[in-house]
Amino acid sequence: MSSAKKLDYKNTSLNGTILVPGDKSISHRSVMFGAIAQGKTTVEGFLLGEDCLSTIDCFRKLGVEIKVEGTNVTIESKGIDEWVEPKEILYTGNSGTTTRLMLGILSGTTLHTILTGDASIGKRPMRRVADPLRLMGAKIAGRENGQYTPLAIQGSKLQAIDYTMPVASAQVKSAILLAGLRAEGTTVIREKEVSRDHTERMLKQFGATIDVEGGVISFEGGQQLQATHVNVPGDISSAAFFLVAGAIVPNSDITMKNVGVNPTRSGIIEVLEKMGANLSVVIEDENAAEPTATINIRTSDLKAATIEGDIIPRLIDEIPVIALLATQADGTTVIRNAEELKVKETDRITAVVNELQKLGANIEATDDGMIIHGPSRLHGGNLQSYGDHRIGMMAAVAALIASSPIEIDDADCISVSYPTFFEHVEELLKNS
Ligand code: S3P
Repeated sequence: MSSAKKLDYKNTSLNGTILVPGDKSISHRSVMFGAIAQGKTTVEGFLLGEDCLSTIDCFRKLGVEIKVEGTNVTIESKGIDEWVEPKEILYTGNSGTTTRLMLGILSGTTLHTILTGDASIGKRPMRRVADPLRLMGAKIAGRENGQYTPLAIQGSKLQAIDYTMPVASAQVKSAILLAGLRAEGTTVIREKEVSRDHTERMLKQFGATIDVEGGVISFEGGQQLQATHVNVPGDISSAAFFLVAGAIVPNSDITMKNVGVNPTRSGIIEVLEKMGANLSVVIEDENAAEPTATINIRTSDLKAATIEGDIIPRLIDEIPVIALLATQADGTTVIRNAEELKVKETDRITAVVNELQKLGANIEATDDGMIIHGPSRLHGGNLQSYGDHRIGMMAAVAALIASSPIEIDDADCISVSYPTFFEHVEELLKNS
């Protein structure tokens, strides 16, 4: 399964325009919401990454009809009350979003289901979701009292809760909201730091009423979702790799169209601006359910920055590639309050620090982040992806500036979120 990939880019520039694939978070939700609603939901710009295909696979096992034609997906559902009890285990692959959001959705059905995923999923904490769901009356069993997959869910009647989020996590928030859809009463969620709000936006798009004010979300149970059309913008977390590449690879000039710039996701743009990147962001459609922009980035000198506090949830998935960016910036970059990195697809603090050190970067791990002294000239080496798509892509972008080749042990994992990543690299290199 693991496939080593040798990258020898010889410091050529990246030039041209690309369309990054659809947003992973929004693609997952489009299928979930379409499956809950009765009728035909159409999705445009769907991400054909392995994670989102896992979501489709789970819903097919629940009896929902889903057609995939290129990046257009059609979901025809008789509605959540008509789903069938699956004979098979629902396999969520490498996808934390699928596992956690499904847990919330399935808790309020009448079905018995079992969720399990790959080795990485088997190590990721699930009680952050199971505990609030149990407060709502959910019946969930699993290893270490529901902390780890496989998880068995016996659907039951749910009661709304008033819940203060202990961590900034859109997966936890979304699982509670999706359970809240089926619960009796008004679910209230209080967020100290705002996490991505795609679920709240999509609930409105599917005709539900949800109130969000000053970090407090109120959502009345028993609402019916209306099937609709969903336009998935390009994923800013995928664009991030080319934003960083454009900033650090000499003589580059990259344009990306239709990039989702939801403010709860666009922390990387603020960081690039703060570090002195040569960047332009032109909003395409401000009034869409999810705003989009055309982003252009050109190579420039960079300065270090401190990245901390409430911006962290707005760029959590971009930190591996931001760390690489910081190795090319003048001064000391400090990333703190990012302990959530330890419970992603792999421990991303350890993975980023280990792998960038192998290339000669001056980087050290802290309890809740990392400290990077730049700039440093990176050399090549053999890097591990830890089976984590974002570590794999960070390594590939490093190869674009390294003085000698980089070999990545398992680069296939990149297809979890960006199956056309290397095609886009080649396309941009062609124009140099
Ligand atoms: C996601 C939320 C984030 C993010 C993940 C996708 C989502 O996780 O890291 O890649 O789609 O809701 P947390 O909510 O656990 O921080």
